[in-house]
Amino acid sequence: MNRTRRIEALQDLEPTVEEFHASVIEGLSAPRKTLPCKFFYDERGSRLFDEICELPEYYPTRTELGILERHAGDIAALAGPRARLVEFGSGAGVKIRLLLRALREPAAYLPVEISRDHMLAANEGIAAKFPGLCIAPVCADYTQPFTLPELPGNEFRTTLGFFPGSTIGNFTRDEAISFLRVARNLLGKEALMIIGVDLVKDAGLLKAAYNDKAGVTAAFNLNLLRRINRELGGTFDLAAFRHEARWNETLERIEMHLVSMKRQQVAIGEKRFHFAEGETIHTESSHKYRIDGFRMLTREAGYEPVTVWTDDQELFSVHALRTA
Ligand code: TRP
Repeated sequence: MNRTRRIEALQDLEPTVEEFHASVIEGLSAPRKTLPCKFFYDERGSRLFDEICELPEYYPTRTELGILERHAGDIAALAGPRARLVEFGSGAGVKIRLLLRALREPAAYLPVEISRDHMLAANEGIAAKFPGLCIAPVCADYTQPFTLPELPGNEFRTTLGFFPGSTIGNFTRDEAISFLRVARNLLGKEALMIIGVDLVKDAGLLKAAYNDKAGVTAAFNLNLLRRINRELGGTFDLAAFRHEARWNETLERIEMHLVSMKRQQVAIGEKRFHFAEGETIHTESSHKYRIDGFRMLTREAGYEPVTVWTDDQELFSVHALRTA
């Protein structure tokens, strides 16, 4: 073993272009067209997403960060010393630095992220700030089962899972439960899991968060069509679709759609897709939870709720759970 090496070789399970193609064709062939949200995060998409997190309308990032700042010490105490920290979806790395600073002798940092180069760049910054910390990156779609890299010689005492940003809200309830089960098997028994979850609130505030004035969320949503054009040879006219965020009161979720502004046809390779004027592609949902409802869901998935923290206005919640 080489003790001086801090960033381990990447475990690369990035979805292939064939998988991208297959899921796009499947989604656009459905009676109500959809596109899978995990493909938002190419280079440009990841950058736009980081910009969304800084928008004045997008309250979740700064609210969650505030909660984490206030309770990083509590999280560290619950996790205990020499924890290996597994992060699902690694983003810009701001939240993880906060946790790494609070933890006592963190044993290793294992980011799991679909946007490979974005993650590798963020890891460089973390390695510079935490010399000696073992970083073992995994590029993967974490909704599919995978294994964590083994780190011979790296002795951890506990495992801390971290799933911030209310990304869990981008799953349906059933998908959230199955993700939590996959994560529980991955993290093992008696691991601590920290999950950020956005709460149900005033519809106006919610809609503004997903439809900012500067149009960054619109650009992020439309970028999926641009990516299909570039990587799959699609013929989407980006000017003929517009972004729309809807609040679905019944399902308590924000839905992001791309609305066809006219009757049109789009080709992807040999396939042709017809759009009526006003027809939409549903690209993502962001489910909002109530605290008790979310705790019940985690119990169903094999977790024991330990504690939950919120901000003064109860906009956002951070849950601490233990795997059973
Ligand atoms: N998971 C976060 C949310 O649902 C972040 C997010 C994912 C997001 N996709 C998005 C935010 C699209 C804005 C637009 O809020």
